Amino acid sequence: MDTDFGNREIKNRITQIKHELGNELVILTHHFQRKDIVDLGDHRGDSFGLARRAARDEKAKYILFCGVHFMAESAAILANENQIVQIPDTGAGCWLAEMGEAGKIETAWQEAAALLGEGAMMPVAYINSNAAVKAMCGRHGGTVCTAANAARAFEWAFAQRGKIFFFPDEYLGRNTALGMDIPESSILVWDPSLPLGGNTKADVQKAKVILWNGHCQVHTRFTPDQIMNIRKTAPDARVVVHPECSHEVTALADASGSTSFIARYVAEAPADATIAIGTEINLITRLAAEYPDKRILPLYDAFCPHMHQINLRNLLHTLENIGKANVVTVENRIKKEASIGLENMLNL
Ligand code: 13P
Repeated sequence: MDTDFGNREIKNRITQIKHELGNELVILTHHFQRKDIVDLGDHRGDSFGLARRAARDEKAKYILFCGVHFMAESAAILANENQIVQIPDTGAGCWLAEMGEAGKIETAWQEAAALLGEGAMMPVAYINSNAAVKAMCGRHGGTVCTAANAARAFEWAFAQRGKIFFFPDEYLGRNTALGMDIPESSILVWDPSLPLGGNTKADVQKAKVILWNGHCQVHTRFTPDQIMNIRKTAPDARVVVHPECSHEVTALADASGSTSFIARYVAEAPADATIAIGTEINLITRLAAEYPDKRILPLYDAFCPHMHQINLRNLLHTLENIGKANVVTVENRIKKEASIGLENMLNL
């Protein structure tokens, strides 16, 4: 009861500050945020939609990003000089992004380039990476991508160079490559702890797609067994999953796509449809509440603690210190190089 009352007070105060700031403020919320936060935002979306929204916003002086750090950092890279990007908790990280360390990726790139020649590969960086990784990608002429445009990024890359070096998400990379009919035998995984990523020279020369061996610890919780069980208990169910899931999972699903794709898939399904979803639980719970005429089931209760670090209290604290607290900054050189990759993505 006390908590409910406290939360109501906080929400009222947040609404009041939003009203006072008017067009000077925009609050962007990722689909994995809890309902309280999404309800207070101005725009919700997937990583691509929010990056584009941040890049195109000309009115807002303050961009308050409710998501994880790499998302707010991408907004800070794309924002214009007069805009200030803030995140309610600067410690809201991403396990997957942490698996791709810029220095190690650059070393691997150099090792492969020494064998193949610099111009043989195109770097493609998943947006779930830190600014230094995006800068490395931009420096070598590549593009950033999200789950919403990975296939387009791969097409763009192949139109210019014969091979792709994709980091840090092995599973999104494999799902994208297989979806473009690139055979498994032309896809190689790079383990940074081993010379040549654990591959032979011949393997690296033959590969079309080289994948960094990072994974999302939320989406790797989904398994083929969960889908097989749903198919038994609810034979009419459609199954939709995020492409950060393993290929064994996406191959059994009816569809896979970004968080906005999943939201659209549910919106467009007929009333009475049963839809089992493989992604972070906050999005699934919200979709279930928004579409009471449809049966929405989680394949598994996969929760992202990093997304959950954003709460009403730190959102209010950031708003009360607008322009000052939890500001996301990126060093100029990194910003310049990373913006090449992000702008390439926006122009795909
Ligand atoms: P989307 O780009 O599909 O929103 O995914 C973001 C993410 O971090 C998934 O783990």
